[in-house]
Amino acid sequence: MKNYLKPLKIRNLELENNMFQAPLAGYSSAPFRELTWRLGRPGLLATEMISARAIEMKQPKQEQYLARAENEGPVAFQLWGCSESAVEYATKVCADHGADVVDLNCGCPVRKVRAAGAGSKLMEDPALIGRLVAAMRRATDIPVTIKIRVGTSPKNYNGAEVARIAESEGADLLTVHGRHTQERYSHEVRLEEVAKVVAAVKIPVIGNGDVRDGESAARMFEATGCAGVMVGRACMGAPWVFAQIAAEMTGQEWQPPEPTEMGRIMIEHYDLLVGLVGKEKAIRQSRKLGAYYTRGLKGAKHFRNSLNMMNSREELLELVAALCGLKTIDK
Ligand SMILES: Cc1cc2nc3c(=O)[nH]c(=O)nc-3n(C[C@H](O)[C@H](O)[C@H](O)COP(=O)(O)O)c2cc1C
Repeated sequence: MKNYLKPLKIRNLELENNMFQAPLAGYSSAPFRELTWRLGRPGLLATEMISARAIEMKQPKQEQYLARAENEGPVAFQLWGCSESAVEYATKVCADHGADVVDLNCGCPVRKVRAAGAGSKLMEDPALIGRLVAAMRRATDIPVTIKIRVGTSPKNYNGAEVARIAESEGADLLTVHGRHTQERYSHEVRLEEVAKVVAAVKIPVIGNGDVRDGESAARMFEATGCAGVMVGRACMGAPWVFAQIAAEMTGQEWQPPEPTEMGRIMIEHYDLLVGLVGKEKAIRQSRKLGAYYTRGLKGAKHFRNSLNMMNSREELLELVAALCGLKTIDK
């Protein structure tokens, strides 16, 4: 397998490599990114999407989304919104909070986001995307990027058009998810459409969709000529997946963490979450996270059922110990 990994420069930002962690609402908060940086080391991490309007309204909850982990690498703060003034203001706030990159979400298919005129709805108005990129560009000198889909429907693959407009308004890079809006996350990724977006612009284009290991990453690079790859679902519960991709591309032996190690990672993730969102929310999030971490492990089904009823750190420790074979639990 050819090794496509290399450093990548965006404006003045030098990234160690061209693997990006995808923004993941409900997951890619500071604790997740800290673990992903330590165990996987992608070139760029990403926050969950953050409402530009909520930042403009100074809603206190936004601080949790804007928080940086102590030990993490370069991070793209992702905004969603459709108001030029809100996006411009929020871009400044992100930069003031230590963002390395500010990204605009132009691909989210969720009804609430679309109803607000944002996310994938923006792809129906490429000129508006241009104005939003211009607003971000006015707000800061750090790199500004957008994340789009290949189109809005099977009748409208307009990713290349959107990419050209974003580039002309000053975007430094863009990521394209190889599905149109109506496909959400289900159809096989459309590499040929990603390739058209790559060919349309001079700025680096990051290919996204179904990258989960060295082989699928190589396929994305080969079929599209993209400058880097972004990994979403495959890093949920597997923050080490970037190390796996790097190992496989450089012909090294790859071993996933032992169950005991994975159990410790799960507990560390919970503890970091408590620091950020408090016990109650950390418990709730750990129920979801546990299901991802234990994909494929023997006994995981029973673990997941029990996890849904767990209400404290002690119970979490017991369940993880039983599943992962931890003899002593570090309290
Ligand atoms: C649970 C979940 C949350 C997501 N949240 C965001 C988000 O906040 N912003 C965004 O641009 N995309 C979001 N996405 C889309 C991913 O970033 C990515 O584009 C998509 O999952 C395709 O990549 P994959 O095949 O590697 O998962 C989300 C996807 C999932 C499954």
